[in-house]
Amino acid sequence: MPRITSLIFVSLIASMVIAALVTPLDQNSDVIAADDESAPANALLAESATQAPARPKSPTYTVTIRRPDGPPRIELAGSDPQGRSGTVACSTCHSVRPPAFQNRNATTLDEFHQGMQFNHGTIACYSCHNPDDADSLRLADGTRVDYSDVMTLCSQCHGPQATSFAHGAHGGINGFWDLSRGPQVKNNCVDCHDPHAPAFPKMIVDFKPKDRFNMPHTDSDDH
Ligand code: HEC
Ligand code: HEC
Ligand code: HEC
Ligand code: HEC
Repeated sequence: MPRITSLIFVSLIASMVIAALVTPLDQNSDVIAADDESAPANALLAESATQAPARPKSPTYTVTIRRPDGPPRIELAGSDPQGRSGTVACSTCHSVRPPAFQNRNATTLDEFHQGMQFNHGTIACYSCHNPDDADSLRLADGTRVDYSDVMTLCSQCHGPQATSFAHGAHGGINGFWDLSRGPQVKNNCVDCHDPHAPAFPKMIVDFKPKDRFNMPHTDSDDH
């Protein structure tokens, strides 16, 4: 009887040892299989790397026009007990407020948005802002325009400048004229022109850093 128990015991140990040996073997074969799968991809990469030097004859680099990140927000007055201040979306108020289409300058704004400066022809606020969605802009034909696409709005009324901008004659470029040599970066219309008072200052030391969207406005902000 004791011999049978020890025999069972020994065979049990043996099967455990076999199991322990087989498992890592299985894992190893998995790893090898994965390597095999990635091999064709590596070959492709190697191929494109050898082809790359033959390319740069045609204009391959891109033109990037800087664009605002998104809709502006209004900074809340004051801060919470922890000293944090917050911002709200334009739609927070305007989705529950009927639009006042007659508003076109600071003198008619007596309830809110005081202290802003407007000097852009005699166009009304809703020549640009969207009365149906305060977090976007709007073209004259009613087309909604995202704030990040603000140049579409400017181009609607300033075709000649938009055209010369596209040719690099207005607004300037940074980077390479020759797109086969390197990429180009252009400023957005609103990097240089305040949409509310767009006249270009006669003397300018430097362009403001582009923090007008999504960053708290400071007192020095010229809006
Ligand atoms: C806290 C509420 C509030 C927020 C947030 C707010 N507005 Fe207003 N807005 C008003 C009020 C009130 C008026 C009316 C002011 C007046 O007529 O004196 C107004 C007026 C306007 C007008 C003039 C047209 C009209 O319907 O009166 C425009 C354009 C406008 N807001 C744009 C914006 C934009 C863009 C934002 C976001 C950056 C924004 N507002 C955020 C309350 C708000
Ligand atoms: C020529 C187009 C245009 C007109 C006209 C215009 N806006 Fe704007 N407005 C913009 C654009 C573009 C922005 C976003 C750019 C930025 O934040 O400076 C903006 C931003 C704002 C903001 C939030 C940022 C800030 O400057 O405080 C408010 C509030 C606002 N407009 C209100 C008005 C009101 C009120 C009027 C009319 C009295 C008006 N706007 C007229 C294009 C316009
Ligand atoms: C709905 C039409 C309209 C839109 C949209 C518009 N503008 Fe204007 N803009 C005008 C008018 C009208 C004038 C005044 C033209 C004049 O007096 O000859 C003007 C004048 C200007 C001027 C010359 C200012 C000066 O006093 O010398 C600049 C710069 C300008 N706009 C830039 C912009 C930019 C940037 C945008 C986009 C954010 C824009 N405009 C959107 C109609 C528009
Ligand atoms: C790098 C800055 C810069 C950018 C980007 C820029 N402008 Fe200008 N813009 C100027 C300067 C500077 C002037 C003044 C030119 C002068 O006095 O001869 C001006 C003048 C203007 C004028 C007044 C009429 C004129 O031609 O002198 C309009 C309108 C105008 N820009 C619209 C636009 C529009 C629309 C865009 C975007 C497509 C744009 N600008 C992009 C710098 C810029």
